[in-house]
Amino acid sequence: VNHLLGIRGLKRQDIELIFQTADQFKEVLQRPIKKVPTLRDTTIVNLFFENSTRTRISFELAEKRLGADVVNFSASGSSVSKGETLIDTVNNILSMKVDMVVMRHSASGAPHFLSKHIQVPIVNAGDGINEHPTQALLDAFSIREKLGSVTGKKIAICGDIMHSRVALSNIYCLKQLGAEVTVVGPPTLIPKHMQEALGVNVSYDIRETLEWCDVANVLRIQLERQNTPLFSSLREYSLAYGVNRQLLDSLKKEIVIMHPGPINRGVELSSDVADSGHSIILNQVENGVAVRMAVLYLLAGKKEH
Ligand code: CP
Repeated sequence: VNHLLGIRGLKRQDIELIFQTADQFKEVLQRPIKKVPTLRDTTIVNLFFENSTRTRISFELAEKRLGADVVNFSASGSSVSKGETLIDTVNNILSMKVDMVVMRHSASGAPHFLSKHIQVPIVNAGDGINEHPTQALLDAFSIREKLGSVTGKKIAICGDIMHSRVALSNIYCLKQLGAEVTVVGPPTLIPKHMQEALGVNVSYDIRETLEWCDVANVLRIQLERQNTPLFSSLREYSLAYGVNRQLLDSLKKEIVIMHPGPINRGVELSSDVADSGHSIILNQVENGVAVRMAVLYLLAGKKEH
């Protein structure tokens, strides 16, 4: 059974195939009837054990645009609150003849664990602080769309690197596609030995990094994953590392601004930048549907059952 558990382990040609397939689905999504019947014999369950707006709606739309039958599950309001295990929950749902699972979970490795116990394809929609593969794919797809290519581009990933599955999946994806990557943020929010382990540049100077890069992907401070905050206050964080108009205006060149959402407006990103012509944030969200259609289509095509 094939899964998409992470970007780690994907080859460059795998990513390029997903992009070429997403190009075709993006064209479908421009038509008056934005639907193809490709997965009309497939039932997909979206298992969300952690909150989501974009990823969940994007997967549901991608599945519906492919003609699949869709079932949505949220841990809140389910029998998880009565103590039912992850495996029991999933096996009960699968016994109702479900063909594919999309899963978000707050525990890193939850979809990898599940993959050892079930026989249908799993797509990781974000697991703890580990990976968020479809986010990285839609981010790289959006850079490719905006700049023509990812190869050779200088990409800054800014902010809370330590707690970000988006950062890790982006690093794997961008490096595989031949981009140069710098992570920038406060030393407390960047894991030690990142440079040695992942081959990225590490910087603690946001101005210097923005001057260097073509694209800045600005991340949210993940307060929900920090037992004690690793910075003094949101205001101080914003003053030291926030991306705002004044900072962008002081650069010698124009850069592209990205953010995976949800934005903490006025903390890591000011509204006048988030809503400006520099920002491709809503293009990222739009591209997410085509990219997820491509992932689901390719996984279903390889299905062995
Ligand atoms: N980018 C992202 O994963 O957003 P959601 O948490 O709203 O799905």
